[in-house]
Amino acid sequence: MSHQTPATHRPLTTALAEAAAMAGHAPSVHNTQPWRWRVLPDALELRVARDRQLAATDPEGELLTLSCGAALHHARLALAAEGWTATVHRMPDPADPDLLARLTDPQPIGADPDAMRMVQCMQVRHTDRRPVSGEPIADDTLSAIASAAGREGARLEILDRDQVLQLAASASHAATVEAEDSQLREELDYWTSRAGGMGLTPEVLPEQPPQTTVPGRDFGRPGTLPVGPGHDQAASYGLLYGEEDEPVSWLRAGEALSAAWLTATRLGVSAVPLSGVVEVPATRQTLRQVLAGLGYPYLVLRLGIADPAHAGPPHTPRLPREQVVDTSAVDGGA
Ligand SMILES: Cc1cc2nc3c(=O)[nH]c(=O)nc-3n(C[C@H](O)[C@H](O)[C@H](O)COP(=O)(O)O)c2cc1C
Repeated sequence: MSHQTPATHRPLTTALAEAAAMAGHAPSVHNTQPWRWRVLPDALELRVARDRQLAATDPEGELLTLSCGAALHHARLALAAEGWTATVHRMPDPADPDLLARLTDPQPIGADPDAMRMVQCMQVRHTDRRPVSGEPIADDTLSAIASAAGREGARLEILDRDQVLQLAASASHAATVEAEDSQLREELDYWTSRAGGMGLTPEVLPEQPPQTTVPGRDFGRPGTLPVGPGHDQAASYGLLYGEEDEPVSWLRAGEALSAAWLTATRLGVSAVPLSGVVEVPATRQTLRQVLAGLGYPYLVLRLGIADPAHAGPPHTPRLPREQVVDTSAVDGGA
């Protein structure tokens, strides 16, 4: 099939491979990057990399699928920035549940300037686990972040003061439960001592627990990131949730996470996901009660205006492109 290429004159397969590589900037639980892309002559496939699933922390694969959803949203934006639109088929083959998405029927429609801005945000977005500044986030900024999630098929509820206190108690309980579980500790230990572009490096982990209303994850070892004396009293906490609790909704939730986080980045808001509370069944149940029947919790996000005195922490490393993007079906055409 021949395709007219957009203004950049890049062949389609190059655009597909570049979009898949750009999706490598997506956030993922413990920086596992549990995705694998396959470039086809006129399609792009996203598969789970099962060998990077957190077997103890995430046996159902929810956080893995959320992470892949974030990568899918990144790839969609990168394609749009290059001037392409494609049809997204989520979980297209019931007999092959590891095939999470297939992007087909790419059409040149001209580069989308909004997507181009979001691609820039992908390259600067990062998880900053230090306390945020004392400046609260404006209501319209929070609404814009929540709407971005809403447009991708999940909801982001910004929690009120009482709900944040409930969340704080749950996060603290989840941390205690996880610290007592030797399998979880081993898994965390593994992902905080990796080389080769995956896992969490000491530079991105706080050198001591930051003072926060809701405790962040205890990574079991101090990092080298200085945290300073601030407290994040001005932070907001959002709960990402949806009406279903099944793989395709987790995938959509990951797309919503990406949309919300990139929008936050564009608006100068920093974010940290907190997944301990959804990993532990009892605290996950408490979050369901916080939602009062509205739906199923997927992830908590702490949002705040980054402290201007802080330089951004170093970026968490990524796997080399060849390990996540398979271009063998297009023979060097990519
Ligand atoms: C589903 C999911 C769950 C996460 N859970 C946590 C968490 O509980 N605590 C935390 O500090 N970071 C968490 N993160 C952030 C990842 O550790 C981070 O995205 C990854 O290390 C890559 O770094 P970057 O976001 O700076 O690019 C989570 C990310 C995702 C996508």
